[in-house]
Amino acid sequence: MRLAVYPGSFDPVTRGHIDVIDRARVVFDRLVVAVLVNTRKQPTFEVEVRAELIEQAVAAELGAEAAAAIEVTTFHGLTVDLARELGATSIVRGLRALSDFENEQAIAHLNRQLAPEIDTVFFMTGIAHAYLSSSLVREIAAFGGDLSAMVPDVVARRLEELHRG
Ligand code: PNS
Repeated sequence: MRLAVYPGSFDPVTRGHIDVIDRARVVFDRLVVAVLVNTRKQPTFEVEVRAELIEQAVAAELGAEAAAAIEVTTFHGLTVDLARELGATSIVRGLRALSDFENEQAIAHLNRQLAPEIDTVFFMTGIAHAYLSSSLVREIAAFGGDLSAMVPDVVARRLEELHRG
């Protein structure tokens, strides 16, 4: 069975992330989306909420069949340790513009050094999402902008609630 882990902050999950999940599920038998507990950054949503939003968005956007092959978990520590624990053969990451490449290349090389048996597989995000990021989504949400093209509906609703107070 080909199992891959897709790590990230997902604060919050965007339509770009969902697009990567949709592409990766075609290539792998199971995909574990792993939400990082980041102790350095103050998140907009707690890790449990981020995971819950991914689960709901996957079911709503990709359907029940896709959702059955996708698991969402939270993790603290190294991605490669989680990948080994899960028995994953690959780490999935999305690439948007060229500007992502340098950082992703460094992470992929370091992860390979830590775990030579695990490869990083990149999926190119669809052009519609090429300039989308969670941080820009947070900024637009804070000023009440229309998020419908950027994030799944469940996320847009949750962000609106947050900023309505
Ligand atoms: O969504 P993000 O914030 O771009 O995801 C970054 C992430 C979670 C993939 C990266 O920070 C990560 O893998 N963190 C876990 C710690 C780790 O394994 N670090 C070693 C990579 S060199």
